[in-house]
Amino acid sequence: MFKWMMAIIAGLASLLAIYLLMFQLPPKEVKVPDTTEITIPQTTVDIAKAESVYKSNCMSCHGNEYQGTMGPALKQVGSKMSREAIYKKIVNGGGGMPGFEGRIEEQDIINITNWLVDFK
Ligand code: HEC
Repeated sequence: MFKWMMAIIAGLASLLAIYLLMFQLPPKEVKVPDTTEITIPQTTVDIAKAESVYKSNCMSCHGNEYQGTMGPALKQVGSKMSREAIYKKIVNGGGGMPGFEGRIEEQDIINITNWLVDFK
């Protein structure tokens, strides 16, 4: 009798664990799929603003000299990636980088994108 109840409780507990696991780890939602055509407006860069956003959100992984730490160097990111690719990377993240959609103002993401695209 006791064993039988334990088996049911264990069964229920593991079902709950599976449910929680699925609930807590929703499939990664990509906000701007790579196939989506987007055009980033080429705004005049507010360098001071870009640098301050960079310092508080990006520097820990990309370095104080853009040399890269846990993330890749960004010194020449503009010759490697398009404006749109940089924007999507910042919005979606991926590959160890967090996505910044909703964490940084849209206009700041565009500003920092236009700033980075000139890193050549
Ligand atoms: C938690 C660490 C982390 C933070 C914070 C972070 N990044 Fe990244 N970033 C990464 C990693 C890791 C990659 C490499 C991802 C990959 O290989 O797909 C990356 C890749 C990139 C790339 C593509 C570079 C390349 O050569 O492929 C750009 C552009 C970029 N990050 C910009 C930013 C910006 C702008 C911010 C701040 C708004 C930022 N990152 C914040 C870790 C981070």
